[in-house]
Amino acid sequence: MTDDEIHINRRIVIVDDMASIHEDIRKVLGPTTAATDELDALEADLFGPDSGESNGGDTAHGSSSIVYEIDSAFQGEEGCKLVQAAVDAERPYAVAFVDMRMPPGWDGLKTIEELWRIDRALQVVICSAYSDHSWSEIMQRLGSSDRLLILKKPFDPVEVAQLAHTLTHKWSMQREVTRRLSDLDRLVREQTTDLRLAHEKLKSEVAERERIEEELRLAQKLEAVGQLGAGIAHEINTPIQFIGDSLHFLSDACGDVQTLVRAYQEALAALEQDERHHALVNRIRQQEEDLDLDYLHEQIPKACTRGLTGVERVTGIVRAMKEFSHPGREKVAANINELLRNTLMVAENEYKYVAKVETNLTDIPFALCHPGELGQVFLNLIVNAAHAIADVSGDSESTGTIAVRTHEEEGAAVVQIADSGGGIPEDIRHRVFDPFFTTKEVGKGTGQGLAVARRIVVEKHGGSIGFKSIKGEGTTFTIRIPFRAKETPNIPQAAIG
Ligand SMILES: Nc1ncnc2c1ncn2[C@@H]1O[C@H](COP(=O)(O)OP(=O)(O)O)[C@@H](O)[C@H]1O
Ligand SMILES: [Mg+2]
Repeated sequence: MTDDEIHINRRIVIVDDMASIHEDIRKVLGPTTAATDELDALEADLFGPDSGESNGGDTAHGSSSIVYEIDSAFQGEEGCKLVQAAVDAERPYAVAFVDMRMPPGWDGLKTIEELWRIDRALQVVICSAYSDHSWSEIMQRLGSSDRLLILKKPFDPVEVAQLAHTLTHKWSMQREVTRRLSDLDRLVREQTTDLRLAHEKLKSEVAERERIEEELRLAQKLEAVGQLGAGIAHEINTPIQFIGDSLHFLSDACGDVQTLVRAYQEALAALEQDERHHALVNRIRQQEEDLDLDYLHEQIPKACTRGLTGVERVTGIVRAMKEFSHPGREKVAANINELLRNTLMVAENEYKYVAKVETNLTDIPFALCHPGELGQVFLNLIVNAAHAIADVSGDSESTGTIAVRTHEEEGAAVVQIADSGGGIPEDIRHRVFDPFFTTKEVGKGTGQGLAVARRIVVEKHGGSIGFKSIKGEGTTFTIRIPFRAKETPNIPQAAIG
């Protein structure tokens, strides 16, 4: 730091009860004085005639061009007032010359204590003719300080000029150092804050990336499962068709055979009248008894019907699975009610042991949507409902209820899935849609169900999803899917509905 870079504070206060001292010091520090001339001469003797040049023309003690701003106080209290006013005006003094004895008021030590209470940076020169206090006593009172010098009376003007010059520089340097340190401190704090913010941003970006990757993995898994499901459904379809055809054939053929058997039985009754055929008739009667023919008559058609019902059911499930896992990238107009029926069929295994399902699906228009993905949403909600009910019923046999309702409201299909589970605890309600938030053990929950549901409903369909939950009574999820079908005519029709 050079003088050019920093502003030198040349404000000085003299606290002395003797007016002559004030005059003397002012004279010494005034523009051109005998003292400064003498000082210049002395300096030239010591350092050579050009010594002043190295300091931009300024000499070591101050030069005639230096102007000090000097204020006077004649008592300690008055000095304090001046120093306080200077601090308040943000024009502090750099140096105070303080007399040791100033009757009737405070002595020098008391004055200095008070001055430092007001301004800790003030450089102080104690002026004393003789020592009222020893140096060690001064140190004890004021503490060891680098802001304190002693000037013995009578003064040497050169010493006064040097002290003023050096101490004003020292004060200004210290002020500059403090300023730069606090700048540095602020800079470090700012940069630390920037770094912390950058770190937090990075952390949240990494978390977001992980979430997206996990969702992608899940989506890929779902797609793979979907494709697998569609493949299996396709494979099952063919054999189930010929099982169905064969059962139809058997059922028809059975009827015909039974008609024929009845005709044979009539013939048998006629033969029974003729004694010559007794042996044959008895053998046939015995066989009829062994076979329990009446039972067969009754049960064979029933078995065929049962088989056909089973086949119909499998065909329904297969169809639902195929539609459910329909990958379609394009939105299509689909019947939400049908989607719900399919989902309930596919998910039956998830709820049938814990809940009975009540449906109330009112006629609503087709909605433009991704049927496969909406099916996924309904599945997630139905599975959650089943889990919630299983949690309250525990191992007991009692079952709960899952109510599935639809209706139309302001251009949207409204789907409600309500369960009679234990409700969502209040303290986790704000988190259930967060990715990976789950209260279920590993393997049962991934915490992705509602996060994925929200993304599909809100982001992909411009709809909304929310819930109402009452502790101990259950939870109702409400989904709104705008139809939008009217806006885009000629939409490809989904196979469903
Ligand atoms: N119908 C419900 N009843 C009670 N709690 C529910 C219900 N649906 C969701 N939750 C709570 O929300 C959490 C997050 O659900 P979800 O995102 O589907 O993840 P997961 O089912 O894999 O835990 C669940 O773990 C559960 O605590
Ligand atoms: Mg879930």
